[in-house]
Amino acid sequence: MSFGNRFFFVSLFLGTALTRFCNCNQVVLLDTTSVLGELGWKTYPINGWDAITEMDEHNRPIHTFQVCNVMEPNQNNWLRSNWISRQAAQKVYVELRFTLRDCNSIPWVSGTCKETFNLFYHETDEAHGVKFRPAQYTKIDTIAADESFTQMDLGDRILKLNTEVREVGPINRKGFYLAFQDIGACIALVSVRVYYKKCPFTLRNLASFPDTVPRVDSSSLVEVRGACVDHAEERDTPKLFCGADGDWLVPLGRCVCSVGYEEIDGSCVACRPGFYKAYAGNIKCSKCPPHSFSYGEASAICRCEKGFFRAEKDPPTMACTRPPSRPRNLMFNLNDTCLLLEWSPPSDTGGRRDLTYNVQCKRCGPEPDHCQLCEDELRFLPGPLGLTNATVTVVDFSAHANYTFEIESLNGVSDMSSFPRQVAIITVSTDQGGPSLVGALKKDWASPNSIALSWQQPEQTALPIIDYEVKYYEKEHELLSYSSTRTKAPSVIVSGLKPATWYVFSVRTRTAAGYSSYSPKYEYETTGDSSNMASDQGQVLVIVTAAVGGFTLLVILTLFLLITGSKLHKKQTACTPLHCIDYSLCLSTVPFPGIKTYVDPDTYEDPTQAVHEFTKEIDPSRIRIERVIGAGEFGEVCSGRLRTPGKKEIAVAIKTLKGGYVERQRWDFLREASIMGQFDHPNIIRLEGVVTKSRPVMIVVEYMENGSLDSFLRQHDGHFTVIQLVGMLRGIASGMKYLSDMGYVHRDLAARNILVNSNLVCKVSDFGLSRVLEDDPEAAYTTTGGKIPIRWTAPEAISYRKFSSASDAWSYGIVMWEVMSYGERPYWEMSNQDVILSIEEGYRLPAPMGCPVALHQLMLHCWQKERNHRPKFTDIVSFLDKLIRNPSSLLPLPESPGEEMDYPMFISVGDWLDSIKMSQYKSNFMAAGYNTLDSVARMSIEDVRRIGVELIGHQRRIISSIQTLHLQLLHEHEKGFHV
Ligand code: ADE
Repeated sequence: MSFGNRFFFVSLFLGTALTRFCNCNQVVLLDTTSVLGELGWKTYPINGWDAITEMDEHNRPIHTFQVCNVMEPNQNNWLRSNWISRQAAQKVYVELRFTLRDCNSIPWVSGTCKETFNLFYHETDEAHGVKFRPAQYTKIDTIAADESFTQMDLGDRILKLNTEVREVGPINRKGFYLAFQDIGACIALVSVRVYYKKCPFTLRNLASFPDTVPRVDSSSLVEVRGACVDHAEERDTPKLFCGADGDWLVPLGRCVCSVGYEEIDGSCVACRPGFYKAYAGNIKCSKCPPHSFSYGEASAICRCEKGFFRAEKDPPTMACTRPPSRPRNLMFNLNDTCLLLEWSPPSDTGGRRDLTYNVQCKRCGPEPDHCQLCEDELRFLPGPLGLTNATVTVVDFSAHANYTFEIESLNGVSDMSSFPRQVAIITVSTDQGGPSLVGALKKDWASPNSIALSWQQPEQTALPIIDYEVKYYEKEHELLSYSSTRTKAPSVIVSGLKPATWYVFSVRTRTAAGYSSYSPKYEYETTGDSSNMASDQGQVLVIVTAAVGGFTLLVILTLFLLITGSKLHKKQTACTPLHCIDYSLCLSTVPFPGIKTYVDPDTYEDPTQAVHEFTKEIDPSRIRIERVIGAGEFGEVCSGRLRTPGKKEIAVAIKTLKGGYVERQRWDFLREASIMGQFDHPNIIRLEGVVTKSRPVMIVVEYMENGSLDSFLRQHDGHFTVIQLVGMLRGIASGMKYLSDMGYVHRDLAARNILVNSNLVCKVSDFGLSRVLEDDPEAAYTTTGGKIPIRWTAPEAISYRKFSSASDAWSYGIVMWEVMSYGERPYWEMSNQDVILSIEEGYRLPAPMGCPVALHQLMLHCWQKERNHRPKFTDIVSFLDKLIRNPSSLLPLPESPGEEMDYPMFISVGDWLDSIKMSQYKSNFMAAGYNTLDSVARMSIEDVRRIGVELIGHQRRIISSIQTLHLQLLHEHEKGFHV
């Protein structure tokens, strides 16, 4: 019996049902829905399968094969496809769409009607068109319908289309035939699609990866080496692995844009004129430094403007500079044996710091042209060339000579300039200094510490006397040092002398022509006798004062220590986690970590006993529930207030156990409280108590105003400084150190299980061992049957449930990554399976945008495969403390050693904005008064918004650069100079 050709064919339905989505990683070898002409498939015997071609609403053919010889026994009807070339495939997929009629719905067919058909294939190197021999065919599978349809469905025009996919392979010949064997079913084969999977061409990390066919063996990956895109070069060999499903996995290595090119949207784009990039790497093109330019595109370096130069060792990031102007205010100071030349640095240093001076001496006769060089005759101290101080002493000069000294300022680019040398000139006549003194240097009076001197003013001086210089020294220490003092009058009181000590004095005059030679030396003594007593008394007084002062100081110090000590003690004991920011003072009340250990409440025979032991029962009348803030596994989570007699009312979060629970659920709920109640640390959520004696059963904990860390960070994307983020991480690490010291393994450490209070203090929450994982929406079942948050969990814990503080350290690394990426999902949209595979292959999460290298290094340390190599929480805490104390270590470091020195020092706010391609906001910054980098470095995201930066992406770019700038400025200040 046949049911006729169109007994279950509804073309309108199929036309819609066959619409497909893009399968971009599939290469289709055959798709019967897209064959426009005849299919030309063979049927054996002729009256078995029936080929029907219908037209759909777009007038495209729909090829269907039907067979329905359900009444006749021993059916063996074959349908054979044309030869299908396998192309590059090693394994192919056959997707069948068909309808199948339910035998029970056909009357009187019970013995003969079947509900399956068989799928076969046969490999050959070419289409042979010869006779069909079923024996040559290999069976792929028996195909049954998930959904068969009945007469009633047919009446309702409901067709139940089945889709079945089978893998075929490995295929070694050039192609193959498919064959469909019907053994007495009522089938309509609506479409056949044969395809193989490939990892499609892709661009990753500036490398291109070609179309790649996966291995037949689905457990092994194909390693593919990428080729750098144009104008990029390899940093580490870029590689991807092609997985069996046509997905690219485990990106390793990368390319970076070459010099003169920067990355924009995955390709390397030439730097615009006026910009340059001197090093290959993931850095942007920078605006040409001052006094340099680039006219063309893709400049590796900017050329210096005319008159400006770059010294051989100047980095390309440095401004071009020029030789300095001449020294200023050149003066000399002449005495019998020494000529001191002094000058002021040039007004223009040329933009450099490597300023030096050369001195040249000329001795001229009456004719100015008749000069000879005279350096060799004289001695210069410290030398005539390369002087770094603006002074030189000249000795060994002749007594009656005219010397002309030329002082030249030089810097690192002086040799490059063809401009005439810039020199300051002075002529010194060694016999025409100022007028020497006539007459003696008289002592007017002396005291224990002073001597008053006077002398006669020289008469008839050619030039007016500017002042006198009095030189003096202790007679006994003549060779050690001398002092001098200046006076305009011909008298002076020299003070600061020692009592009863002989001093030597001499005086010289100074005119515009220089100094005269010194007068003869005069020796005078300070008084000592009677004044010695006074002095001794003075000393006694000093000693007494010092003794009394010292004692007073001692008393004050002792009192201070007592007071601060007690305050400190108070601070330690009264320091509530809510208000505890000063971690160093907020010590755990566990005096010696490791001594108090965690007790697993599950080890209690009677769980109620554990609740009693570790928690406080709260009278519900002390609790005021205010709002519902969330839903937990056991009931609502509310916020409210808790009153405690004699204490301030506090904000609390209240977890409730909804009614209708069984004893087991009640214990699961209270287990968390019995665990939490054992902890007391500023970075662990604090249990206030439980309500178990009345309904509803409640757990009351401290209230954390900012909720869970992951959503908090997502809501405040880009809002915090790196130091603030590190502060949060430090808190979490400190809480985890406490837990590991107590011997408690968390197993579900993740940003969603950290709570944040109004002071940004982060506290670890969600305790309860296995229950935690049941409750966690991230936890997935593993092949070994456990429920595990794959992305946060160490490989050994996933594979064989080896949970330890070391596996918590792995999770901590993931939390670090979540924090530094402001709540990004670890491994993004990769499937759990891909995450496991990638980790096994050695892939690790890359540094989030703007994350300091030191922090990423710490993450990588936490993600060591060998769990004993991971850092302990105590190491993590001290490492983070060091980073916080030394903010320059948090600078995002340059990638190549060459860049290290040349972290761009932006000159102006405008230059900085240009460098981050945010030039359009220059006027906003200026109008709001942010015209120095120091002021910019203090801006918050609110400030950035307030000045009119509206686009979130721009706000992020600016704020992330400000963070770098902030650290950079700190770094500069640390080094002791300002930008
Ligand atoms: N959600 C869950 N526990 C909380 C708490 N302690 N504070 C605020 N929100 C919470």
